[in-house]
Amino acid sequence: MTAMPNPTPVLETRALTKHYAVSSGFFAAPGNVRALEDVSLSLAPGRTLAVVGESGCGKSTLARQIAMLETPTSGSVVIGGVDATSGDSATRRALRKSVQMVFQNPFASLNPRKKIGLALEEPLAINTDLSRAEREARGRAMLARVGLSPEHYRRYPHMFSGGQRQRVAIARALMLEPRLVVADEPVSALDVSIQAQVLNLLMDLQESTGVAYVFISHNLAVVELIADEVVVMYLGRVMERAPKAELFAAPRHPYTRALLASTPRVDASRGEAALARAAQSALSGELPSPLAPPSGCVFRTRCPYAIGRCAEVVPPLEPAGAAHVAACIRQDEIG
Ligand SMILES: Nc1ncnc2c1ncn2[C@@H]1O[C@H](COP(=O)(O)OP(=O)(O)OP(=O)(O)O)[C@@H](O)[C@H]1O
Ligand SMILES: [Mg+2]
Repeated sequence: MTAMPNPTPVLETRALTKHYAVSSGFFAAPGNVRALEDVSLSLAPGRTLAVVGESGCGKSTLARQIAMLETPTSGSVVIGGVDATSGDSATRRALRKSVQMVFQNPFASLNPRKKIGLALEEPLAINTDLSRAEREARGRAMLARVGLSPEHYRRYPHMFSGGQRQRVAIARALMLEPRLVVADEPVSALDVSIQAQVLNLLMDLQESTGVAYVFISHNLAVVELIADEVVVMYLGRVMERAPKAELFAAPRHPYTRALLASTPRVDASRGEAALARAAQSALSGELPSPLAPPSGCVFRTRCPYAIGRCAEVVPPLEPAGAAHVAACIRQDEIG
């Protein structure tokens, strides 16, 4: 058996870090929200990387850095081998076209005064010199690919259901044939029956276009359906990274175990609220403030396996270079 050569990753982040300067009041000292700390990951073309973790762990911050909507504090975002963080503005502009976003709330991402067709054509009008007729032809073709009908082209967003509107948002994101779509909780606002349809659409589109996804979700049942690889985050840091099957079958990090322990597997109907409750019951203690995260392992204050050494060192993701890594110095003992 010959090994397949590794393709250039469509996305790499290298030690990606984002801090937000905040002052919580007139008398309060300014502080730094450490939203993202030292996040390194890699995604192969045409694959799906899911990012999971509790509210506030930095998922959307990661999404915004990858989509080049913000400038990271340090570290880099590399798209198809090209560094987006240090490149000149022309390079960044070109890269921005190849990375598109889909947001949780399709109401917010569509202009209510603009007909759907125009919303679809807009990325082409801005970024290409295609004629009006060509733009419309492509817009209509994309509408069909996301399962909407031609008469929808001249309608306004308010005439669509949530699921249909998310289909439009997905269509719009694909108009420039991006290599990567960052989807931040794309189905969380939808009814459960509609969630499955939109997830299936995303998977079908990946198969036909080869687009890669960074898929952000609270919902492990959804992640189990759609992901190839999974990254588990806590307080801005990666706790564990693994191929999906390994993560669900043999989680290594105590935080991942806590998340999985009481998660409704394969039962998407219970959704996020159930996961949030499950995570709370499996995890004791409060989530620390990202203004002053614990020293060493950020999870140690809630970890049943924590020992003195956990406060001293930030655990590296180990074993180094492996496909399945966890940031826990006791992962072998507690296995
Ligand atoms: N612009 C900002 N200014 C200050 N703090 C911010 C800003 N954006 C995010 N944060 C903080 O950074 C941390 C990470 O937030 P982020 O929105 O990335 O989390 P999340 O994992 O997406 O959460 P959720 O699941 O609720 O969407 C939080 O503590 C948040 O309050
Ligand atoms: Mg978020």
